[in-house]
Amino acid sequence: MSSLWLDSIQYKNKKNKDKDKDNYKDDYDCLRGDVEADVCVIGAGIFGLSCAYYLSKLGFSLVVLDKAGIATKATGHTTAKITSEHGLFYDYLINSYGERFAGDYLEANERAIENIKGIVDAENINCDFEYQNSYVYTTKPTELHSIKDEVKAVNSLGGSCDFVTKTGLPFEVCGAVCFKNQAQFHPLKYVYGLCNSIVSNNGKIYTNTLVYDLEKDSDSSYRVIANGYCVSCKFVIVATHYPFINFPGFYFAKMYQSTSYLIAIDAKKSLFNGMYISAFSPTFSYRTAKIDGKNLLIVGGGDHKTGHPSCYRDTYGLLEREAKKFYPDAEVLYRWNTRDCISLDKIPYIGQYSMSLPNVFVGTGFKKWGMTSSNVAANIIVDKICGKQNKYEYVFKSSRLKPFKNANEMKNMLVQSKNSLLVDKLKPSNFHFDEIENDSGGIIEINNEKVGVYKAPDGKIFAVKPVCTHLGCLLSWNDVDKTWDCPCHGSRFNFKGENLYDPAFKDLCQWNRRLKCLCQ
Ligand code: FES
Repeated sequence: MSSLWLDSIQYKNKKNKDKDKDNYKDDYDCLRGDVEADVCVIGAGIFGLSCAYYLSKLGFSLVVLDKAGIATKATGHTTAKITSEHGLFYDYLINSYGERFAGDYLEANERAIENIKGIVDAENINCDFEYQNSYVYTTKPTELHSIKDEVKAVNSLGGSCDFVTKTGLPFEVCGAVCFKNQAQFHPLKYVYGLCNSIVSNNGKIYTNTLVYDLEKDSDSSYRVIANGYCVSCKFVIVATHYPFINFPGFYFAKMYQSTSYLIAIDAKKSLFNGMYISAFSPTFSYRTAKIDGKNLLIVGGGDHKTGHPSCYRDTYGLLEREAKKFYPDAEVLYRWNTRDCISLDKIPYIGQYSMSLPNVFVGTGFKKWGMTSSNVAANIIVDKICGKQNKYEYVFKSSRLKPFKNANEMKNMLVQSKNSLLVDKLKPSNFHFDEIENDSGGIIEINNEKVGVYKAPDGKIFAVKPVCTHLGCLLSWNDVDKTWDCPCHGSRFNFKGENLYDPAFKDLCQWNRRLKCLCQ
């Protein structure tokens, strides 16, 4: 099933073009020739488009490229909460980096909420923006002290939050941290509003345009190679969710990806106000959304590291059971999942991509708060391109070395990479061909070679080489989404081997009917 946001945005076409000017949006063409611009933005999610929006307003000529369509990845699959409340975070920030640092993180994100509201008003974007309170709650008395510590921490930074024991949720909580005047919106309607403004300021947007190389010219300008053509530019913004350039930068060694699941239900009952997330595991997230006159409830949770096998019972099933405890007649209208890049110190990377790539910028590792962090990032990068100092730049500095202090997570990542790159490839496969059922997949062995096999519901066989085209880790089969997922850095491929999610951008090698690898 598609996400609520992607499914509820309608596209302009000849048949219904004049029906509703707000909801029918243009699709964009792919790149069909060499172009020149001041700035090339790679990635048409909320971060890339926010950068492009600000820069086009400032008169920069720019090109936005995306290998798929507008906001079809993380932005199209989010919960779309706009908030500076990023879980229980400020007590951790104060303890780890001090009050000034934590205060600037808070202020940057509070400003981002105002900035987004400012854009919505200035561009008259009909994106269902509404202010809501945001809550982090617990139902366990043993976790109450963490809630109280967070309230104390935020208030010590000059922020405004309350400790509450009553919320709009349909169940009792022991306590919650409440941030007032946060917001929610329809992310696709918002980014299409940005696109309209970018195009009206002479920005160019190209979709279905795969970038596969970045070449440096001698005079610190760049050539971005995409679809066999070249974009010549002075500045490059890598806004691809997961940075696609491995060396330099080494972002693959500094982040991991987490997958979480969402459902949208028609509760058949009146709903509540507010946006909610549980303080600790198991994570549950709630917000409402008005779609086609219906008030729907979005429930999220079931997080796990991307590439680690999961089953339906622990993902969508978990969310459906939870929702039906309170809304027994609920009808599930949408199911979808999303992936988030998480840095080892939980702070996004925003700034210069690498010391050896001047004028190339990046914003990534937004955790689960990309709607707000993307605006923070866009402002920092636009200031850098304009040669202006940004007050918050030091908080998110992309070249920092702090993440390596997070020894446990670093160790987990190294062990995982070692296993997937070497150990698992040498182990015999668990499956025999006959053991794979229809509509399921697994890795078998043929002549000492690993083959990833998916049997469609009608028995048709799809066979791929189950080795990730990013850095070569062994993939694992995801039986919930019928995809091949990489446990190292979170790339995903469909059962035919077509690349769905970065950092990999090439498809998997296929095997033919005689199970001979077509890449050999
Ligand atoms: Fe990096 Fe697969 S995503 S090896």
